Amino acid sequence: MAYNFMSADEAARLIKNGDVVATSGFTASGAPKELPTAIARYADEEHKAGREFQISLFSGASTGDSCDGELSRAHAMKFRTPYQSSKDLRKAINSGEVNYIDAHLSQLAQELRYGTYGKINVAILEAADLSANGDILLTAGVGNSATYANLAEKIIVEINDMHPKSILGIHDIYEPADPPYRKEIPIYSVKDRIGKETLKVDPEKIIAVVNTSRPNEVGKFTPVDETTQKIGENVAKFLSSQLKCGFIPKSFLPIQSGVGNVANAVLGLLGDDPDIPNFTMYTEVIQDAVIDLMKKGRVSFASGSSLTVTEETLRDVYGNLDAFRDKLILRPIEISNNPEVVRRLGLITLNTALEADIYGNINSTHVMGTKMMNGIGGSGDFTRNAYISVYSCPSIQKGGCISPIVPMVSHVDHSEHSVKVLITDQGIADLRGLAPRERAKCIIENCVHPDYKQLMWDYLKLTDSKLQTPHNLRAAFAFHNAFNETGDMRNIDWSKYE
Ligand code: COA
Repeated sequence: MAYNFMSADEAARLIKNGDVVATSGFTASGAPKELPTAIARYADEEHKAGREFQISLFSGASTGDSCDGELSRAHAMKFRTPYQSSKDLRKAINSGEVNYIDAHLSQLAQELRYGTYGKINVAILEAADLSANGDILLTAGVGNSATYANLAEKIIVEINDMHPKSILGIHDIYEPADPPYRKEIPIYSVKDRIGKETLKVDPEKIIAVVNTSRPNEVGKFTPVDETTQKIGENVAKFLSSQLKCGFIPKSFLPIQSGVGNVANAVLGLLGDDPDIPNFTMYTEVIQDAVIDLMKKGRVSFASGSSLTVTEETLRDVYGNLDAFRDKLILRPIEISNNPEVVRRLGLITLNTALEADIYGNINSTHVMGTKMMNGIGGSGDFTRNAYISVYSCPSIQKGGCISPIVPMVSHVDHSEHSVKVLITDQGIADLRGLAPRERAKCIIENCVHPDYKQLMWDYLKLTDSKLQTPHNLRAAFAFHNAFNETGDMRNIDWSKYE
């Protein structure tokens, strides 16, 4: 098949106002770059000419600045799902400009197949290679590429030569059948391959092919500081205690590690702890710390949906593919985060809370209960189905003006039923086997920052301690109110709540 090669600006004109567009990749890895930027330019031109131009955008997770950033700055998006982490898109979401559905990442592909969201007009797929009969070699992230390619009416391929063709063999593309025909997903070990190395699409659907050399756009992590160091040490201490007491088998269990600075630091420190044996990962994003630990021999295998690593680390992996190829698998997000597989493999899940409450409920997404930060991502896919689910966060944020541990979370992403352990720089709260009243004491004693401990005890004094879950609904958001009114949670005026 002879494809229509064209410039990104020409291809952008094939997208119509109101189109539903779906992108490959997971995080900035594997997401298209040249075409979304060209669509943003096209939207600008249309807006200047007084014409409406906005698209709905589906992706695997977040994308890079050339996609979510450019499109939101051009006011070219009216709907977005399932996850984002862009400063500008966050602004557009929280100002009411973009309708955002924050969704469990493992579920979106099947929901699209079931018909929840209607049809997809165009799938834009980043590729390292494209054959004449429609075999696409994906790049550093998979996400929902297969489902998007199958469902979309049309496909545009963006061939990115920053990704070598020699990555063939890293991907494992598999799409489950839908009920009532679904069978078990035959993954019994993190290393099991069940699908294909390339994504086969109908070549007739490919309406344009664009070339680019844009690098991946994964930002650098903040270096480990005293707080993240302490959190990482506490996570390692907890896991080694569970190994010693036999709760975790001697051979250890696969680890899932969340996104962001805290998760990256925790994983690095876990790898440094001599009491933790070498381990494997069955996770969503493979961040820089995983590659470092692989080079040290501490991580023997990692399965994920993307290599969300800095450009320097990606070059390192690509330059040493022979060493990495048999240690890495990139899967569709529906498989990397699949609840059936997570429960079968018995994952130790390590995620980060934006906010946690004294009963173990977790808010991963909403700042002060109303403003979207990023999204739930895969944290729900993993937490609910984990062998043991651990949440960590610093005991203070914003120079001490915020305690991420509060009496009642201002938004619930993970309930007390799914969260087994809470860890901060202050210590470890093992919530297993504790009733809510006991959990509150355990969390306040072990995890809350000294500046906030007395305020938490003061809150509990306003509750009826005999209740199953002692709360005082008038005062439950006293910490948030103090922050909203004075900029510092420590300025609580309890007299307002007596
Ligand atoms: N209230 C207000 N702001 C808060 C806060 C709170 N309770 N807790 C954290 N923040 C702010 C921090 O101050 C920081 O702000 P800055 O960017 O202005 O410096 C920002 O949130 C990020 O916090 P940081 O401590 O650097 O953590 P992080 O980079 O590890 O991110 C989450 C933490 C929760 C935002 C991130 O892990 C996330 O988006 N999680 C949800 C998705 C998920 O868990 N995915 C993994 C599944 S596999």
